[in-house]
Amino acid sequence: MRRVVGKSGRESAPRYLSGFGNHFSTEALRGALPLGRNSPQRPAHGLYAEQYSGTAFTAPRHTNRRSWLYRIRPAAVHGQFRALPAGDISADFGANPGPNRLRWNPPPLPRRPTDFLAGLATLAGNGAPGLQQGCALYWYTANRSMERFFYSADGELLLVPQEGTLRLATELGRLEVAPLEIAVLPRGLRFRVELAGEGARGYVCENFGAPLRLPDLGPIGANGLANPRDFKTPVAWYEEREGDFELVAKFGGTLWVAPIDHSPLDVVAWHGNLAPYKYDLRLFNTLGSVSYDHPDPSIFLVLQSQSDTPGVDNLDFVIFPPRWLVMQDTFRPPWFHRNVASEFMGLIEGVYDAKAEGFAPGGASLHNCMSGHGPDATTHASASSADTSQPVRIEHTMAFMFETRSVLHPTRYALDSPLLQTDYGAVWQGLPRQFRTATRPVRRARTRPRRR
Ligand SMILES: [Fe+2]
Repeated sequence: MRRVVGKSGRESAPRYLSGFGNHFSTEALRGALPLGRNSPQRPAHGLYAEQYSGTAFTAPRHTNRRSWLYRIRPAAVHGQFRALPAGDISADFGANPGPNRLRWNPPPLPRRPTDFLAGLATLAGNGAPGLQQGCALYWYTANRSMERFFYSADGELLLVPQEGTLRLATELGRLEVAPLEIAVLPRGLRFRVELAGEGARGYVCENFGAPLRLPDLGPIGANGLANPRDFKTPVAWYEEREGDFELVAKFGGTLWVAPIDHSPLDVVAWHGNLAPYKYDLRLFNTLGSVSYDHPDPSIFLVLQSQSDTPGVDNLDFVIFPPRWLVMQDTFRPPWFHRNVASEFMGLIEGVYDAKAEGFAPGGASLHNCMSGHGPDATTHASASSADTSQPVRIEHTMAFMFETRSVLHPTRYALDSPLLQTDYGAVWQGLPRQFRTATRPVRRARTRPRRR
């Protein structure tokens, strides 16, 4: 029989602090946050001080992430971990995936009681959590709130809800994240996922590498893309509950569970820059060409996990938001291409402008290193004959991409899934041979001022 006493603290709407990567200071109880020092001999209110580090102690200052927590009990207080069946969670990224392009239909919401953790399934990944390189890509479906607590020692978690609002109760505060918003939970952060409605579905990227950050902007200047002040970090919040709970850890690609006799969401005050945050994708300042052609999709980069090689990221999170297309005499949808990078895509709402059909909201696709892809035949035909003298606005759409430097290996779950489309490659088979040796001169739209 579950024994729970104490307040759950679910009463009010979450409150946030503004800015990406700031050094925040916040307390849920007056005087709980020590001033002028991190580790006083006896913290106020009988709290324990604990440092929570997300980077090496000696990481350069501009990449160093750590917070000081003042909590009712230290994180060390729990029982022994034992292995827990991992369900559809996997870190087996060793098999050769082959160069085929893959696409999946969206997963249905579960019929049996399923919390966020039970409904998490690994679709693909690369690298290894133990080496702190690579990532694991999941989708989730859920129809009930978690009662247990979870953390991943393997990586930080980027949550992309597609259906249903998530309420994230974490050690450092509460976040409410709806579709078209994202949340990032740092490596090791303990949390519980509650559902605001009856069902939820979405995507998760577990980043084994360097913490996500905002990209440099180069010639773009000081503003643009995702602006720092639009990122929101929760204020301190805690619950004081005792009972028979479970703490589930993801460690080394597998799950572990330990008994814990209290809620670990008991941080009364904290300060630092290692903290969860959320971001509304609709606030992205989308940039693009106003003359001809369109830039590489790196212009849509929201967050990046840098690797040890300059300019070559472990992971990029890219979105394709609503925007104006104004380029003249230009094939406006994404062009045909092959990349050294590997691309996993999802769709939050609407239609992705390179695919006329078959890529549904909640579904996913995978185009690995050097596998040719691009617009399907239907899209190519319509875009090739479109009038590009007029601007066109793409509305009610939000696709995204997890792009990696290393090949993504689909899991056995993903390859055996009945949701895998067996005929995905056929979308390019309808592209006709249209080559001819004699051609009419192309009339170019005027893109430069006439010379006098
Ligand atoms: Fe691509």
